[in-house]
Amino acid sequence: MQVRSVGVRVIDDVLDEAVGRRHRPDPVIGRSSGPAGNAQLTAWTGLLLLVLIAVELVTLLDVRGLLSWHVVVGVLLAAVAALKIASTGWRIVRYYTGHRPYRRAGPPPLLLRILGPLVIAGTIGVLASGLWLIAAGPASSRQPLATVLGQRIDWLSIHQALFIVFAVVAGLHVLARLVPSVVLATSRTRGQESGAQLRGWGPRVAILGATLVAGTLAAALVLPAASSWHDEHRGFHEFPPSGSGPAHE
Ligand code: HEM
Repeated sequence: MQVRSVGVRVIDDVLDEAVGRRHRPDPVIGRSSGPAGNAQLTAWTGLLLLVLIAVELVTLLDVRGLLSWHVVVGVLLAAVAALKIASTGWRIVRYYTGHRPYRRAGPPPLLLRILGPLVIAGTIGVLASGLWLIAAGPASSRQPLATVLGQRIDWLSIHQALFIVFAVVAGLHVLARLVPSVVLATSRTRGQESGAQLRGWGPRVAILGATLVAGTLAAALVLPAASSWHDEHRGFHEFPPSGSGPAHE
């Protein structure tokens, strides 16, 4: 009975958070607004990630034809995901090092606390393996690394498998965090006179803007390195499709 009621409460906590019925009271402290400011930056970054993820999903409809978009949006995603991991990581470090305002705000619901590191690992996995494919080029990326249950594993199939992992963990995260994101992204009054922006609004906009500029510059540097994949698609080189049987000798 006891275990069941704990289980029910754990799930209720996430559902309450996901529908916006409840969110921890983030104190507004100092020029950056402390925990409330951190939550706002995390929410803004999350919503921007959602837009970029949606665009990246569209490129999967024709990844060969839209390869340049896939690479550019992928690099932008890496920059914005790095900011997301930094802002949530800052909250985790402040919480575990006993910073009082963050202790007072408290941790996220238990299931989201467990899911968080999986979302970070899935995100780093799919983005890093994608960048590795560009660095390695089509020939090395299709070299078999191992054969598992008769299935040939190469870097391309690893990237595809990590995308599925990412889709599951990030999908669950977004289900739980979409409504709170919208509430947090527009949060003005929490602990403030109604209508006033949370202090530190300007620097947070600047951080997001700088991240987008850095991501765009990185994409401009990385895109030329993807030319071997373009060549392959234009048929300059013959490679067997990923993960399909032994290579043509
Ligand atoms: C795809 C890469 C993403 C990564 C790696 C990531 C990672 C995390 C982590 C580790 C946390 C802390 C655990 C938690 O409180 O749930 C978190 C919180 C949060 N995430 Fe994400 N997330 C991602 C995408 C998103 C997206 C797309 C959204 C928006 C729909 C979002 C919105 C939020 C919100 C609102 C919080 C709580 C902020 C707070 O109250 O301080 N995240 N994220």
